[in-house]
Amino acid sequence: MDRRPIGVFDSGLGGLTAVRQLLRILPNEDILYFGDTGRVPYGNRGRDTIIRYARQDMRFLVRHDVKAVLAACGTVSSVAHDVGDALPIPFIDVLRPTAKAAARASKNRRIGVIGTSATIASGSYRRELLRLDPALTVAEQACPLFVPLVENGFVSPEEPVTRLVAERYLAPLREAGVDTLILGCTHFPIISGTIQAVMGPGVTLIDSGREAAEECRRLLAASGLLTDSASGGKHRFFVSDMTESFYGVAALCLGREVPGELEKIDIETV
Ligand code: DGL
Repeated sequence: MDRRPIGVFDSGLGGLTAVRQLLRILPNEDILYFGDTGRVPYGNRGRDTIIRYARQDMRFLVRHDVKAVLAACGTVSSVAHDVGDALPIPFIDVLRPTAKAAARASKNRRIGVIGTSATIASGSYRRELLRLDPALTVAEQACPLFVPLVENGFVSPEEPVTRLVAERYLAPLREAGVDTLILGCTHFPIISGTIQAVMGPGVTLIDSGREAAEECRRLLAASGLLTDSASGGKHRFFVSDMTESFYGVAALCLGREVPGELEKIDIETV
C-alpha cells in the first residue's frame, strides 16, 4: 500500500484526458499533474528538444515524491520513453498499452494510427505494433491541426471545419481499410465523435489515455502500490504558464472543473 500520489505529465492540458480516466478508474488515488503550458506544443518539435523537456518534466515529478510516473503525452511517449524507463520508479507511457489494446481489438489485422507530427515521424507505434504481431498492416497519419482545433473549442461533431479537416486527414486510413484506429494524441478523444463519424461505425477507436490509465492500475496493483485510503484522492495541478484559456481548455479535457490546487512553476529551474 502506498499513499504517495501518481505523477502525470503532458506537454500542456491535453493530458487531463488521461487524468479524467484515472479519476474514473482510481478515484481514491492522489494525483500530481504537470502541464507544460509554457512550452506546448511538443508535437512539432525536434527529438532532442522533446527529450530535454521530458527529462525536466519527469525530474519535477520525481522530486515531488510520486510513486509512479504516467506520460500522458503521445509525443513524449513516442520520442522519449527511454527517459521514463530509466526512472527509479514505475513508468507508464501511452504507447505500449495502447498498441497492445489495438492489436487485441483488430479483427482484419489492419490498424491505423493518428498523432502529432513528431509521434508519426518517430514510427514508434508502427514499431511497437509490428513487434507485437509482424503480420499487422499499419497505416499512420499525422493530424497536427486537430490540436489547435480542440484547444479553440471546435469540438462538436456538427462542427464543419473539424469535419472537413478530419475527412482530409482520415481518407488514407479509410482507403487502407483499417478496422481499428489508435487515437495517439491527448486531444483526439475530445473529437472522437467526428473521427468516428468519418471512419464509420465499423472502426474501433482506441483511446490512449484510457489504456494508459488501465495499465497504471494494473501496474500499481501488481506492485502492491495502490493506496489503502478510501476517502477520495487529493489532486494538485502545476503548469509552466497560466493563460486566459486555461480553465476552458482544462475543463474540456477533464470533463469537469479542475479540482484541487493549481500552481504555476518555472520548469527550467525547479
Ligand atoms: N500532448 C501532445 C500529444 O499527445 C499534443 C500537444 C502537443 O503537440 O504538445 O502528443
